[in-house]
Order: sequence, then structure tokens, then C-alpha cells
Amino acid sequence: MNSSRFKFILFTCVIPLQLWAAPDWSRDVEITTPRENLYELPSEEFHQTVMTGRKAALFYPVTVSELMIPYWPLKTFFETRPNDPVRALLYELAKVVSPFDSMDEALKWLGLHDFPKNIQPETPNAFPELTMEEKALPMGTTLRNTPEGTAMTFGCAACHTSDLFGVKVIGLTNRFPRANEFFRQGAAIAPYVNSFIFKDVLNTTEGERLILVKAKKQLKYVGTKRPVSVGLDTSLAQVALSLAKRKEDAYATRTPFSHRFPRSNKLEKMVADSKPAVWWNLKYKNRWLSDGSIVSGNPVHTNFLWNEIGRGTDLIVLEKWLTTNEETINALTAAVFASRAPRYEKFFGINAINVEKAKRGEKHFIQSCQKCHGTYEKGWAQDNAHLLSASELIQNVKVTYHKKTPVKDVGTDPGRYLGMKEFAQDLNRLAISKSIGALVEPQKGYVPPPLDGIWARWPYFHNNSIPNLCALLTPGPKRPVVYVAGPAKNKDTDFDQDCVGYPLGKDVPQGWKEDPEFVYDTRKEGLSSKGHDERIFIKDGEEIYTKLEKSELIEFLKTL
Ligand code: HEC
Ligand code: HEC
Repeated sequence: MNSSRFKFILFTCVIPLQLWAAPDWSRDVEITTPRENLYELPSEEFHQTVMTGRKAALFYPVTVSELMIPYWPLKTFFETRPNDPVRALLYELAKVVSPFDSMDEALKWLGLHDFPKNIQPETPNAFPELTMEEKALPMGTTLRNTPEGTAMTFGCAACHTSDLFGVKVIGLTNRFPRANEFFRQGAAIAPYVNSFIFKDVLNTTEGERLILVKAKKQLKYVGTKRPVSVGLDTSLAQVALSLAKRKEDAYATRTPFSHRFPRSNKLEKMVADSKPAVWWNLKYKNRWLSDGSIVSGNPVHTNFLWNEIGRGTDLIVLEKWLTTNEETINALTAAVFASRAPRYEKFFGINAINVEKAKRGEKHFIQSCQKCHGTYEKGWAQDNAHLLSASELIQNVKVTYHKKTPVKDVGTDPGRYLGMKEFAQDLNRLAISKSIGALVEPQKGYVPPPLDGIWARWPYFHNNSIPNLCALLTPGPKRPVVYVAGPAKNKDTDFDQDCVGYPLGKDVPQGWKEDPEFVYDTRKEGLSSKGHDERIFIKDGEEIYTKLEKSELIEFLKTL
């Protein structure tokens, strides 16, 4: 073979492989440096891939998902009043189950946030370029033009984007996601909706009627559960209870018998609720979820699988979608791993952090926290610190987390990790779990999460049981028994800067107290706030830090 032809073959075969490094998703991979650029792409391609991926996070890409809502009929239902008396009566009957007067109101109730109107310099993860049309509905909703008509569904952003004092952050936990509730109500109402009456009352097209018929069919295979407290999510139960409505074979086949006589599962009753995780911790870890129970495989694959089981999708069809849409999945994975945390000083100003105090806090952190939560080297510890600006001094120059993600039982509420036992086998049995390499191993305890951007992640713990960092550094029995949650709208009233998190007692904004749904009660099952105190900041029954030292530690945590 002459050498130029050889080079040609070499280039065409080898170069693409070199551009897209294949990440190691095996159980035993050691993470020595954060995998921020997971596929080791050159910078321009990295940037573009991440933007493509963020778009997939904002607009749900799974086209084989059949649980969709006919958009225009729903909007008509919310926003118009029919003239003829028969239709008006049917409308009034339907209104009993729907308290909303507009589509906008319904989507707001679902806890979804609007897209940013302008470029926001405070946001750590820039938005991809979007058209006005794409930005018209809140983040998390996806409109799809199908041959039958316009259909609406919800994507990753419904639970994984948030509004932080007006700044929209991709990858931050939505504090009040109600996507589960949407499926729950849909599943409850669907059997009573006759598609022909629906068509007649709302003047829909035949195509829109068919979208509804498909959704009704899918919903038979969806098992739902209400979260114990608003702000928590019941994805775990939804996956388990949905699998229980399918056969126990490798593709969890759906049959009329299997949905009419679901297998019983303890998650119908037991509470395993948790908050959606932040995305910027992925780059440090080699196992996934709050309890580290997914020990291998690309976590984004697993998320598609879980999301689709929870929507009643045929798994043979899904498996095909996963293999033919690798590019989209890789882009989304790249975007998730590249996520960064919002910075305190960008929201509150550089003077809101007392550097000398934070340095004193660092000593306590090294002594009591670092062995579980990782090492955060600061600008101020660099040789050139005297040349750095105030903002550079407080940055994390290098974060070192465990090579292998640990799981520790520090006595926090066990419900969530125990829940995993109830359907791990059902998941591991699936052919699709095997093909994506996802293995579930139930654990005892939780992953000590990396603490990047911890200030923005209140309320704390997997179950939201801790309202702020002062409460976290208070011994379990003395922590608040109930607290009131609210949105992060106003920096002055909705956030306690000294305690980092929700204001408590007399500082709770008046408006928050009106809705009992927003009261978090740690006495309920699954919501305990105990643990994470003995042997951490309590030794032999005594607290090891004074009030002042704790506030120094919190000052340090603000800089992470
Ligand atoms: C209905 C809400 C909801 C939706 C929609 C959702 N997630 Fe999540 N996600 C969660 C919850 C809750 C957790 C944490 C569960 C736990 O570990 O207890 C989570 C965890 C994760 C994790 C693991 C994080 C870690 O640190 O290990 C990743 C990655 C993730 N989600 C990505 C996605 C992607 C990608 C999508 C879209 C395909 C998506 N999620 C859609 C609720 C949601
Ligand atoms: C023995 C290991 C261990 C030590 C030491 C430890 N933690 Fe933790 N930490 C954990 C675990 C495990 C969790 C997760 C608990 C849960 O979600 O139920 C956690 C959770 C947290 C969270 C909440 C994270 C979130 O995203 O909600 C914060 C904040 C935190 N720890 C701060 C600290 C501080 C500050 C110290 C030192 C005073 C410390 N931890 C010491 C294991 C540890």
C-alpha cells in the first residue's frame, strides 16, 4: 500500500476516535482528576458539544416517548369558555379536577421556571442560543410537532434547572418540582376521559385525539406516588411501581394482565423520596445517585431508562432509540459533566465574604469535614496569592475528591437508601440495563457529596430536612422540627446570609406562611433530620466548635 493511501485510511479511521475519548464507566474506574471535559474534546468542539447537550437538557430529546399531552386542546380547555350549554356543562365538570385558569398558571404550579430573558453573567452554565418560540414556555416543557399534532412533554430541566434570585441555573436542583404530581394526576384522571367526548368538547383534530389515546394507553403502565413534602421527588417509587405493572422478563413486557394485576412493591407505602441532585458533582464521582447505588454505566443512560420506565415506554423501542441517538446522549452527558456551580460573590458581592474569617474556617473544615467531602485548595493558599484579586483569592483552584466515591452512614434518614432494595433486582434483570452497563447495588448510607456551590443547594441532605447550614452544624436533637420553605426570589428576605439557607423563626417571609404545603415537618416518615453530628462535630457527647468557630466554618463553605 502506498504511504499516502495508508495515511488517508489512518486519518479517517483514527482521528474521530481520538477526538471522542471513550469514558470509562466501569465499576472500578478511579477518578484522579475531575472529568469536566469527559470526552477530552478540543476546546471549540467541547464548547459546541456542551451547548448541544444543554439544549437536550432543556428540550426532552426522546422521540419514542408516547406519554404526551395534546397541547392546543389543553390550552383551549384552560383558556376559553364554550358558548353552547352542553359543552359548558362538561367543562364545568372537568374544571372541578382542574383549578387552573390558564396554561401558564398550570405550568407555574408544576414548579417550572421561565427562561432567562437576557444573558445573565451570574449563571455558571451559559444557555444555548434559543428562538423566542423555544423560550415561550417555561424550562422543562417540550413541545413536539408530531404527525398527529403538537404534543407537550417534560424533560430533564423540569427537575434540574432552577431560579436563583432571578438567575436561571442549569444543573441546580429545582426546589419545588411537581413533575411526579403531574403524572399522578394524569394517571388518576385518564381512565375517565373519553377520547371522543374530549374531541367533541374541545373541537380537536383526529390527530390530537390519537395523541390522547396513546397517552391513556401508556399511563396504564405508570405507577405514581405523591411526595411526602413538596420539593422532594418520588422518581424511585415511580420507577419501581411502574416496573411492577410489567412482566418480570428481560424487556419488562407490558400486557393487559400485568397492568391490571401489578406485583406488590413496598414502595407503595414506604417513603424513599429525595431531592433532584445538582449536576456539577458528576465530574468527581464514579458512582451515581444520593446513595451511590448505581455503580457502573453512564448515569445519563440510566436517567433516560428511568425517565422512560416512569412514562410507560416499551423498552425494546427505547433500547433502539438509545443506540441510534448516541450523539445526542453523548452531548447531554458532556453537558452534565461540564456543569459548574454558581458563585456566592457573583450574587452577593465580593464584600459579602470575609476572607480572613473564611481562612480560619478552612482549618475547621480540614480537621472535621475534608476526609469525607474532599479537599478544596483556595487561591489564598497559592504562592502568588499577594498578586491575586479579592475574587481570585476565594476561588477553588483545585478540588480533590476520592478516587472511588465513598458511601457513609452518618445516621441520616435511611428511607431513601432502603428503598433501593425494593427494586434493584427488577432493574438489574433488564436487558437494557445490561446493554448500557448499569448495575444497581443497594447501599447502607449516602455519598458525602462534593461541596462545590453548597451555599446554593439549601435545603440540605438528600431529603431536604435541614433548612440552613447553622441547622446542619447544630446537634440533631436541637435542629428545627419544622420549617417553612419558599422560593429564592428576593436576596434580602428569602435567604439568611449568616446561616446560608432558609430564614427561620421571625425572619420567615410573611407570604410563605400562607400555604401549609410549604411546611416541612421532620417528624414525618422519610423526613428525619437526625444524624451527621456524632463523630463529625460532636466528640464524646460534646460539641467541638464554639458559635464563633461554626460561623467561621460557614464563611469558608460560602467560598466553595
Ligand atoms: C421528575 C424529576 C426528574 C427528572 C425529570 C430528571 N431527574 Fe435527574 N434526578 C432526579 C432526582 C430526584 C435525582 C436524585 C435521586 C437520588 O439519588 O436520590 C436525580 C439524579 C440525577 C443524576 C445523578 C446525580 C449524581 O450526583 O449521581 C443525574 C446524572 C441526573 N439526575 C440526570 C438527569 C437527566 C439527564 C435527566 C433527563 C433525561 C433527568 N435527570 C431527569 C429527578 C429528576
Ligand atoms: C463521615 C463522613 C462525613 C464527614 C466527616 C462530614 N460529612 Fe457532611 N455529609 C456526609 C454524608 C454521607 C452526607 C449526605 C447525608 C444525606 O444526604 O443524608 C453529608 C452531607 C453534608 C451536607 C449536605 C449536602 C447537600 O447537598 O445537601 C453538607 C453541607 C455537609 N455534609 C457538610 C459537612 C461539614 C461542614 C462537615 C464538617 C463539619 C461534614 N459535612 C463532615 C458525610 C460526612
